[in-house]
Amino acid sequence: MNLRAARGTRDVMPPEVDRWQRVESLARQIFALYGMQEIRTPIFEDSKVFEKGTGEQSEIVQKEMYRFTDLGGHDLTLRPEGTPPVVRAYLEHRLAEGKDVTKLYYIGPMFRYERPQKGRYRQFHQIGAEAFGSEDPAVDAEVIEMAMFWLKELGVESPTLLINSVGDQDDRPSYMEKLVAAQRTYLSDLSEDSRRRHEINPLRVFDSKDPRDHAVIEKLPTIIDHLSSSNRDHLDRVCGYLSDWGVKFRLEPHLVRGLDYYRRTVFEITSPALGAQDALLGGGRYDGLVQQMGGKVDAPAVGFASGLERIVLAMPDESLAPPVDCFVVTIDDSVRAAGLNLMWRLRHSGIRTTAEYQGRSLKAQMKVANRSAAPTVVIVGPDEVASGTFTIKRMSDGQQVSSGADSLAEDIRTLLASEG
Ligand code: HAM
Repeated sequence: MNLRAARGTRDVMPPEVDRWQRVESLARQIFALYGMQEIRTPIFEDSKVFEKGTGEQSEIVQKEMYRFTDLGGHDLTLRPEGTPPVVRAYLEHRLAEGKDVTKLYYIGPMFRYERPQKGRYRQFHQIGAEAFGSEDPAVDAEVIEMAMFWLKELGVESPTLLINSVGDQDDRPSYMEKLVAAQRTYLSDLSEDSRRRHEINPLRVFDSKDPRDHAVIEKLPTIIDHLSSSNRDHLDRVCGYLSDWGVKFRLEPHLVRGLDYYRRTVFEITSPALGAQDALLGGGRYDGLVQQMGGKVDAPAVGFASGLERIVLAMPDESLAPPVDCFVVTIDDSVRAAGLNLMWRLRHSGIRTTAEYQGRSLKAQMKVANRSAAPTVVIVGPDEVASGTFTIKRMSDGQQVSSGADSLAEDIRTLLASEG
């Protein structure tokens, strides 16, 4: 039997996992600078959370959900995105009632039944952030700037920020009429897929990657030219703050995003390092969703989510830190217990330490030490145990230092720090 990870899922193995940890820990550090706090919601929810939140007509709910009935007959879904569960929790824990601005971030797996390809998986991981309780364009700008700051610190290759506004109930209906009418005149020039989108969700025609559609898309009216004055002002103020803070962006009138809950600001950050699935991160404002999901009054909100797999793909290759600091080698069985004790002491002094555990010869242990990439080796023999003095060998250049058991950890640290 040949058991393998399910299609569209993958194991994150060492040393790649170091990069994941770096992305996660930098997110925690940087998001905290903006007053964000972590929330952990369950991985599955009542399916209604996504029907109401993501939207019954959305592609995700229609075609991509891992939806199942449990043994008690409950209709459940593995979360395909983080926003509806966070809104559900925001309401369930009555955070809306305080009227304060609430800023939450999350890190975890999401599930969508999509066609797998590079950068697109069925189980993938998002790091997302949501800010509830304010319509101020400064919050849109803050959330966007926070994402850019984080990607820059990670060294992600050329992140490009695209911004648009998709309007709201004041200007979208009249714009949609114009859009549908324009699409109708070019219907025979559109791809089959775009003709279907024209019927179900005309805005999504802008998302088409089919080259046949591009000439038509250029001729369609864009919402940015049909915004109400207050929505235009909102967009201008978001852009104004970003310029003040030195964030480069491009207004992209064709950016519409694949989810229905957005109002006004939408944005995406792409990277040329990614290929076809080039969105590192996407988000926008979603005023109205809190009420749509059962809030007595609405709380305006704005946020984003990034794909961890994609961020890791777009990060530069950097030399990874070795998995341990020290490898302890024992000359024979008579000093094995002494070797183990020494390892115990080193670990409790903050030195990451390992050994060979199969009772092999000294020579074989040295080979394992080399393979482990440990930068230092300590040899434990009867003489060392009797004298209480050990030799630390630095593997990169063979330099040796002798050290007493009490100063061993400190001497290893010094040896590592002085490495050229
Ligand atoms: P989304 O655009 O569906 O938005 O997903 C956000 C990011 O998740 C994408 O830009 C991409 O990096 C990653 N992603 C999505 N699907 C996959 C996949 N199948 N494999 C790998 N990565 C993927 C949302 O989910 C919204 N909840 C974002 C948001 C938060 N809007 C407001 N607040």
